[in-house]
Formats: sequence, structure tokens, C-alpha cells
Amino acid sequence: MFDLSQFSLKDKVAIVTGGSRGIGQAIAYGFAKAGAKVVITSRKAQDLEATACEMTAIGCEVLVVPAHLGRIEETQRVVDTVVQKFGRIDILVNNAGASPAMASVLDTDERLWDTIMNLNLKGVYFMSQAAAKVMKKQGGGKIINVASIDGFNPEPFVSVYSISKAGVRHVTRAFAMELARDNIQVNSICPGPISTKMMNSHWAHLSPEEAKKQKDELCKHLPSCRIGEPDEIAGAAIYLASEASNYTTGAEIVIDGGLLLSTHLG
Ligand SMILES: NC(=O)c1ccc[n+]([C@@H]2O[C@H](COP(=O)([O-])OP(=O)(O)OC[C@H]3O[C@@H](n4cnc5c(N)ncnc54)[C@H](OP(=O)(O)O)[C@@H]3O)[C@@H](O)[C@H]2O)c1
Repeated sequence: MFDLSQFSLKDKVAIVTGGSRGIGQAIAYGFAKAGAKVVITSRKAQDLEATACEMTAIGCEVLVVPAHLGRIEETQRVVDTVVQKFGRIDILVNNAGASPAMASVLDTDERLWDTIMNLNLKGVYFMSQAAAKVMKKQGGGKIINVASIDGFNPEPFVSVYSISKAGVRHVTRAFAMELARDNIQVNSICPGPISTKMMNSHWAHLSPEEAKKQKDELCKHLPSCRIGEPDEIAGAAIYLASEASNYTTGAEIVIDGGLLLSTHLG
């Protein structure tokens, strides 16, 4: 019979990349509250330490590992550090991602392509590979990739980001297919607009009036009529990290206030 304890992450070891702010931070807090030991990683140690302080305050055992996840050797270092400290990895959330600049498909250069792809796609692939080797040896694990609804419909002027997120959806399916027999479940979360530094940077170069106009315009197309909050992603991540999702693999949970439906609203 189903028991709510299947949602518990008690004593599970979880890595959350990009755990210093935004969606990753909300997932890290959620995991902490569900009982996990949480490793947070991103580039800036100071931001990680501030997040870790909050998590320690609610009784969570936290490990901070600063790393640049667009570099393969760094992804391996994160995994090695976690195994050294905790001896296992039960959950990996590939959340770190970036969209550092907007450019038309005619203006995008190789540098922007490499910066985005190295973190959003290559980093996700090789972080998953390194963690999955550990999970396979220990008898199972959970990998959760944070993709985006831009991976369904490309957003104008962020083509490389959108292509990287389409790729993340396929990384999910490729790993899910090959690793199902090893009891490793691999799934994606595809957020729509969520109020974070990344989201707000789209409007940072505009006047406050123009930024408000563009936000209002976006909300008009959102069936839920509002931009989401990072906390609204955490519940899905807890489900996909927990035993409640043991028969779920290669799946995606879209959390977008209905935006993917809104093409029909005009
Ligand atoms: N917000 C949205 O509307 C939205 C929608 C769909 C999908 N997403 C996805 O959700 C994920 C989180 O986004 P967010 O909105 O929470 O963004 P955010 O607030 O900008 O947070 C990004 C996180 O990733 C880390 N990071 C960035 N570059 C990194 C690198 N090279 N190596 C390691 N860590 C790095 C950042 O820390 P440092 O800068 O210190 O490294 C930070 O912790 C991303 O994959 C994003 O594509 C977001």
C-alpha cells in the first residue's frame, strides 16, 4: 500500500548543481527539508556558503563544492569529492545552466555557442556519466535534469540556449534508456518562466517601464497569468528524487503555468 514515507529523502546523498540561487537553491532547500544530505555546487563559493548556512540552520548536512561545470575535469572533481566525503551518490540534479546573452541566429558567434553548450549540454552529459558510474556500482540512483520549455519551442534570440535545452531532453532519454536496468531513473523537469536572476536578466537592459510592459505582455500569454516562483519547482524534484518515482524514467514534468498551451490562446 502506498505510504507517504516514499517521498522521504532521509539520509540520501544529493548533488544539486547551480544550488547557490534560483531554482537550484529552492530544490536544495526542498531536499534538505525532505531529510537529504545535500551537496551544492556552482562557481561562486561565497554564494554557496550563504545558501549552506540557511540549510545547516534547518539541520541539514551540507557540503559546498565550488566548480565550473562547463569543464569536464571539474564535473569529475565534484563527483570524486562527494564520494570521498559520503561514499555514495543517490541523487544528481543537473540544474546549473546559463543564457549569458541574446543574439539573433545571424549574429550568434562560436564563443557564445561554446559557452552555452559547454555548461548546459556537455556539462550535463558528463556530470551524469560520472555520477551514474557511482550509482551503478551502488545499485541505483536518480538523475534529474532541468531542461526548459524552450527545448520544445525555440525562443527568439536565444537559439543556442533553446537548442541546448532540446539536447538536455534527449540526454535524459538516452541515459534513461541505457541505465534503466541498473536501477537508475533519469527524468527531466521543464520549467517555463520562473522569477530568478536568469529570468530577470532578460529585462535588465530595459527601462523599468519597458521591462514592466514586457513582463505584462508575457503574463498575458500565460494561462496562469503570472510568472512562477523557484519553490514551485521543488515538489517535482522531490518526487523524482524519491522512491515514489521508482517506475518513472525518461519522463518530463513541464512546470510552466500552462505556457506551452498558450499558442492556442493567440
Ligand atoms: N528561470 C527560468 O525562467 C528558467 C526557465 C526554464 C529553465 N530554467 C533552467 O533552470 C536552471 C536554473 O536556472 P535559474 O533561473 O535558477 O538561474 P540562475 O538564478 O541564474 O542560477 C543559475 C545557477 O547556476 C550556476 N552556474 C552558472 N554558470 C555556472 C557554471 N559555469 N558552472 C557552475 N555553476 C554555474 C549559478 O551560480 P554561479 O553563477 O555562481 O556559477 C547559479 O547557482 C537552468 O538550467 C535554467 O536553464 C530556468
